[in-house]
Amino acid sequence: MTPRIRKAVFPVAGLGTRFLPATKTVPKEMLPIVDRPLIQYAVDEAIEAGCDTLIFVTNRYKHAVADYFDKAYELEQKLEQAGKEAQLALVRNVLPSHVRAVFVTQAEALGLGHAVLCAKAVVGDEPFAVMLPDDLIWNRGDGALKQMADLAQHAGGSVVAVEDVPRAMTSSYGIVDAPDFDGRSGLVHSMVEKPAPSEAPSTLAVVGRYVLDSRIFGLLEETKPGKGGEIQLTDAIARLLQEQPVRAYRFQGTRFDCGNHLGLIEATIRFALDHEVLSSGAAQAMRTALDELGVVEH
Ligand code: G1P
Repeated sequence: MTPRIRKAVFPVAGLGTRFLPATKTVPKEMLPIVDRPLIQYAVDEAIEAGCDTLIFVTNRYKHAVADYFDKAYELEQKLEQAGKEAQLALVRNVLPSHVRAVFVTQAEALGLGHAVLCAKAVVGDEPFAVMLPDDLIWNRGDGALKQMADLAQHAGGSVVAVEDVPRAMTSSYGIVDAPDFDGRSGLVHSMVEKPAPSEAPSTLAVVGRYVLDSRIFGLLEETKPGKGGEIQLTDAIARLLQEQPVRAYRFQGTRFDCGNHLGLIEATIRFALDHEVLSSGAAQAMRTALDELGVVEH
């Protein structure tokens, strides 16, 4: 049995070039899905899973993420004076009072593995989560990270989230080989970063949620640049699984890859249609747009 995770690392130092020009001034993690920035969804999922320490690995140009989680004194004062209680609660509830945000700078963009390693001193010697906010997971029940934290706590070892992808897409993901995968989970025997479709050991792709043993830090320190010349988290996990169990877990929920345009649009549609106030208006707007533009599905 592994202790419950309390800390989550959010690598948010990327440049977000796919979303230029929007990301010229707004970090991609701050792009909104309906009424909340992308990062808020990941943060809420981490808090639901039991995390009370959120570690953002950022770069020196990205102040917006830190500003967002900071207290906004003037704004709060104005909303209070104007009696805007509902809006005040929204601003204050960005982080519940028992949760703290810690910011760590990644001085050079040396890859995801390197970004995670930057959080070593704050995480210390305990299991922790890594969450990639680009992967937005929608679920009516428990969030994906809570499902994984429960599994890690009961089964021990580390857990990586996976889902099936078309074979043609394996070169965009870490791919696991889990021969005993039973449809929900299975021990990972090997793992490879972004293999060509012809070389992929399976079509089970790693999605941006990990529950990791702190032993990963020592392995990351020894990891040489891999795919794309970057220090890859996948390569360090491939070493970790030789020392202790790493499970692949197919979470319940739908993942939207908000690192690309269509994924962001799909997520917006899903969250709008699932929104308690906006749902019917959003559905109507979609029908009208499809009608007026004469869009037909292929
Ligand atoms: C990263 C990881 C990859 C994983 C993916 C999930 O890649 O390196 O193993 O499958 O996240 O989103 P990136 O998308 O940052 O290139």
